[in-house]
Amino acid sequence: MLRIDNLRKSFVLDKGEVRAVQNVSIDIAEGQFFTLLGPSGSGKSTTLRCIAGLEQPEDGEIHIGGECVYSAQRQILIPPEQRPIGMVFQSYAIWPHMDVFHNVAFPLLYGARGKKISKSDVEKGVNEALDQVQMGGYASRPATQLSGGQQQRVALARALVRKPKLLLLDEPLSNLDAKLREEMRVELKEVARRVGITTFFVTHDQTEALALSDSVGVIMNGELVEVGTPYQMYVRPKHKLVAEFLGTANTLQGRVTIIGDKGSVDTELGPILVDLSKSEVNVNDSVFVVIRPEALMCSHERSKFVDNCFEGTIKRSLFLGSFIDGEVLIKDKTFRALLSPHELFQPGERVYVHVPPDHCQVTR
Ligand SMILES: Nc1ncnc2c1ncn2[C@@H]1O[C@H](COP(=O)(O)OP(=O)(O)O)[C@@H](O)[C@H]1O
Ligand SMILES: [Mg+2]
Repeated sequence: MLRIDNLRKSFVLDKGEVRAVQNVSIDIAEGQFFTLLGPSGSGKSTTLRCIAGLEQPEDGEIHIGGECVYSAQRQILIPPEQRPIGMVFQSYAIWPHMDVFHNVAFPLLYGARGKKISKSDVEKGVNEALDQVQMGGYASRPATQLSGGQQQRVALARALVRKPKLLLLDEPLSNLDAKLREEMRVELKEVARRVGITTFFVTHDQTEALALSDSVGVIMNGELVEVGTPYQMYVRPKHKLVAEFLGTANTLQGRVTIIGDKGSVDTELGPILVDLSKSEVNVNDSVFVVIRPEALMCSHERSKFVDNCFEGTIKRSLFLGSFIDGEVLIKDKTFRALLSPHELFQPGERVYVHVPPDHCQVTR
């Protein structure tokens, strides 16, 4: 549905060239919710703006719904208003001097590829879009009398009113306070699912990416590092950088000594059994073993397991109700650990730690 091939975009500044997007290729199936996730300045907005036609790339191709909207080689550059897209930005720009109806109607009245559209069609379109975001009764409400969440929905309705094939969202939730952001996160996913629209979502927030997406791509320094489902990206990342960006990761450098479904890596803690069923590594490869905080099973009792058992000392423990955010020292290395709140762990206590090999992911 959206296909991006070898997209490149640089900016030339006085102090040199910024390579904002470097050879990015992404393929998103119809109806999918895709998130481009990356730190600030990694090239997310530039990629989105190239898809929208607001930036002119210098190389690559972009297809939306089978139609080529940009090709460097074939010299195709379709202007933004002729691309089948709807957009919501961080500052979602609801016009305060208009009511909800006219905010949503705006793209129909002024952006419709120069076509005239009848009053009744405008009404029909606006009402449909408002229904999609569950704002049906609000058409005549002045924009100034909307809550943050309602403004967000109106912005979404405005993006949907021309029935685009692709919805582009650039950090639309980041101006909302924490609680509303969580509510709108659920709402956004619900609307996208209900409308069935392919969505390209941009954020620096890993929780948002995990919660919303069918598929996530991590971008760093303009390069797409890895793409996968939220589960793959969190549980089975292929790159240490991705593991670290998507949540907390304990990492151990090591060398592969045994390969097979269950492999072994020599680390500063000694040999660690790892799951290699999804990894492509060879004996002697230098790798990182990634262990999530929730994979460290800590107990005052010696574990009944034999593999990957260590003795450690609790360095810090922060009781947070549903879990304890802890630090455990094993040999000279500090591990972040998510501990059960049902067993009290005090700093200085000796503990036994078991890490199931399934939860030891090998990355580059
Ligand atoms: N119009 C521009 N002129 C010059 N540099 C830009 C422009 N837009 C973006 N950049 C630079 O390109 C890089 C990527 O920016 P951007 O795509 O906005 O990142 P993100 O959205 O991931 O925060 C940054 O280094 C940014 O400073
Ligand atoms: Mg941005």
